[in-house]
This record gives sequence, structure tokens and C-alpha cells, in this order.
Amino acid sequence: MKTIAVLTSGGDAPGMNACIRAVVRTGAVHGLRVIGFRHGFNGLMNGEHIPLDPRSVANIIQRGGTFLGTSRSPEFKKADGRRKAIEALKASGVDGLIVIGGEGSFRGAQDLIQESGIRAVGIPGTIDNDLYGTDFSIGFDTAVNTALEAIDRIRDTAASHERLFLVEVMGHRTGFLALEVGLAGGAEAVIVPEAPTDLDQLCKTLSDSHRRGKSSSIVIVAEVDEPGVAFTIAERIKSNVGMESRVVILGHVQRGGPPTAKDRVLASRLGAAAVEALVDGKTGIMVGEVNNTVVRTPFSETWQKHKGLDLSRLALVGTLAG
Ligand code: F6P
Repeated sequence: MKTIAVLTSGGDAPGMNACIRAVVRTGAVHGLRVIGFRHGFNGLMNGEHIPLDPRSVANIIQRGGTFLGTSRSPEFKKADGRRKAIEALKASGVDGLIVIGGEGSFRGAQDLIQESGIRAVGIPGTIDNDLYGTDFSIGFDTAVNTALEAIDRIRDTAASHERLFLVEVMGHRTGFLALEVGLAGGAEAVIVPEAPTDLDQLCKTLSDSHRRGKSSSIVIVAEVDEPGVAFTIAERIKSNVGMESRVVILGHVQRGGPPTAKDRVLASRLGAAAVEALVDGKTGIMVGEVNNTVVRTPFSETWQKHKGLDLSRLALVGTLAG
């Protein structure tokens, strides 16, 4: 193993820069040449790479986003696109590739391994926290805290106007972000795809608590496929029990900003662990952290298995709603 490459792929997540820094500096300790591909798999297909030495990653541990850039690449899903990527990897002498991203990125990396024999290791970088094989993905903790800050502000205005707010958060068809934010933010209810929500019951709960004197409420809604499901729920509540509400879609603000300490530490540990895995001759695995220990999970398991949402936490939201 002489040369390794790193790229970030899919939605950016706070902590990706800290992770690239860890990859580069651990690579240097092992005497490896490290290069970075710009713009995810799109840049890989076009051979857009830059040299990365320990000094080139100075002062980035605290920066959100990814300085390498990222993309979602439909072209890479096709064999022709991957052929271009394989040529670029071979032309730049890469023996091992580190992909920081989510499920879609690991599926692409797995195809690349099968078609080229080049080794690849993944690092979970997504605010959604929806990957099996790690308790937390890089960016999740920051996104939770960013959303929470917004919700605390919404609560001020909700209380002042005695209003119901529906706050929609990201999560890519999972409720990890919504549930964490809802519990931490003292939400009255959390709507997630993993558990059926009886909207009639929710309407009744909201209007009953309103009658009992609760003047303001916040309901957290996990986005489903596209942003906007919260508007449908708001209309349903209005037609069902006549309660007016305001809808806030937090959107991409959740993906920005400096990573929290927790995300920086996770990113640093996993960046180093990915390099160690390549040096150990591993391929086709994601490094993650389970019970505070670094573990290696085959790529296919990261999307075939599901870690499951802790539904007792969902019940706790209801218990504590008052
Ligand atoms: O996967 C991260 C994520 O932010 C999801 O939560 C969200 O559904 C999606 O990306 C949004 O993607 P885009 O930035 O391409 O609109």
C-alpha cells in the first residue's frame, strides 16, 4: 500500500473536514501518499484530485461542510461511469480508497471494488444516522444540536402567541434525528416513519391538552421522501379539531455549521481507523463506533441490516408531554 485516496460523497455533514484531516495525518504516519478527489464520485470520474499532506489539512477540524466538495452522482451508478472512475484511480496509482458518506456512497464503493479489485473502506458521514454498524454517524450530533437551537427559538414565539408549531426535520426516511431532537426539545409529539402515527389520536391529544390549559405545543415531524409532509399534517389538524398551526421546515440549515466536540472526536477516530483498516489489508467494510469501540462492518450489512429506532424513547416523549 503506497497511495490512498479520500473523497466525500452524498449530503455533506459537519465533521467531514475533521475526518479528512485524520485520514491524511494517519496516512502520513504510515508513510503513505494521500490524495483527495474533489466533488465526490463526479470528481473521481473526471480524475480531479489534489495532493494532501499534513499541512494541507491544518485549521479545518472546526469547519463545517467538506473542503473537498461533494455530490450525488447518477452517472457513477452506471457501469460506464465507474469505468471512468477506475481508470482515474489506476492513473493516479491509488491502492486504497476511503469514501466518507452514506448508504448510496457505500453501494457505489462496493460496485467499484467488484469491478476493479481496488480496495475501499467507508466512513459513515451523514446527519441522518441511518447506517447499521455504527451507533452514530459523523454529523448527526451537530445536526441535532443545530435543530435544537432552532426549536428553542420557536418555543419562545410559540409560547408568546400561544400557538401550535409543526417543525419538520431531515432524516432521509428515518426518524433518528426527529426523535433525538424531539426528546431533547421537550416536544409534545414526534412523528417518525418507523412507527405508525394515529393522526386522529394526535389531534385529540393536542386539543385535550389545549383545553387543559397548555397554551403552546411543538410537534416534530420527520421528512418522508420530500420536504413538506408537515403541511399535510397541519391541514389535517385544522380540519379535524380546528386548531391553527404554523409549519417550519428546518431544511439544509441542519447540515451546516461547525461540528460539535462529539462529531470532531468521532470523525478523528474513524478517519484514523479507516486508514488502519486499509493498512491491515481490509476492503469492502465500513468503520463505525459501537459502544465506544471501533468496529468494521461489511458494506452490504450497512444497508441490509437496520439498527432500529428506540421506540421506548418515542413513548417517553408522550409521557413527558404533560
Ligand atoms: O442524507 C442527508 C440529507 O440531508 C437527508 O436528510 C435529506 O433527505 C437529503 O440529504 C437532502 O438532499 P439534498 O441536499 O440533495 O436536497
